[in-house]
Amino acid sequence: MNSQSQASIPEHVCVIMDGNGRWAKKRLMPRAYGHRKGVETTRLAVEYFARVGVRHLTLFAFSSENWNRPAEEVSSLMELFMESLRQYTPELHEQQIRIRFIGERSSFSTDLQQQISHAEAETGANKSMVLNIAANYGGQWDIVNACRTIAQQVQQGNLDPARIDDQAFAAQLSLAGTPDPDLFIRTGGERRISNFLLWQLAYTEFYFCDTLWPDFSETEMADALAEYSRRQRRYGKTGEQIEVPG
Ligand code: IPE
Ligand code: IPE
Ligand code: MG
Repeated sequence: MNSQSQASIPEHVCVIMDGNGRWAKKRLMPRAYGHRKGVETTRLAVEYFARVGVRHLTLFAFSSENWNRPAEEVSSLMELFMESLRQYTPELHEQQIRIRFIGERSSFSTDLQQQISHAEAETGANKSMVLNIAANYGGQWDIVNACRTIAQQVQQGNLDPARIDDQAFAAQLSLAGTPDPDLFIRTGGERRISNFLLWQLAYTEFYFCDTLWPDFSETEMADALAEYSRRQRRYGKTGEQIEVPG
């Protein structure tokens, strides 16, 4: 446990785990080697954030745009997902972690879809932390899906358009029922969202660092939490209102 006080621990952390390819390239190795090393960091990160008391962890594993990578990289990533899920589901289950996938899973192979359903079913009742894995996920896809569902409800006469508000909308997104992320972390040096959670990041605190994902250590995870604990979240109010509530 680090020196972090419990009160400042974010309830929901989301992470863009970026930099695997460059990490491998620096070592004159194929990109797939970087992804393999990245899985080890992912395992450490899940264990760390669960240990410090984070309740929801959402990891960006594969974006809807990542299909545009060379076919060889895409297939090595799919293999790695399969293998990692098989290998780590029992361990996560033992740690009482619930696994959930968000994203368009129908594009995955039947085997991978089955593995995903198995991991979700096996860990479904676990209570320590929810691990959301964003795979074939895009923030715009999520919003468009929600719009479609709402439009259908209106068309069927089950929803009055006047009742559509931010809560009704959020209830149709893939993270419905989960509090919005408090802290967003992106490793790998880029300062962008890359179509990750768009709606849900409205008031999230952003933390960017240059460290490539395979090198992201527990010390740096603690640094991100320490930085978060120094932020003042104002939600439109003044700083004085936050210091003296009411
Ligand atoms: C992130 O690392 C992992 C995935 C997108 C699956 P990258 O593969 O994007 O690594 P860089 O950005 O090329 O270094
Ligand atoms: C975002 O990283 C997606 C994941 C980490 C899975 P990318 O490396 O694909 O993002 P861009 O293309 O550089 O914005
Ligand atoms: Mg990248």
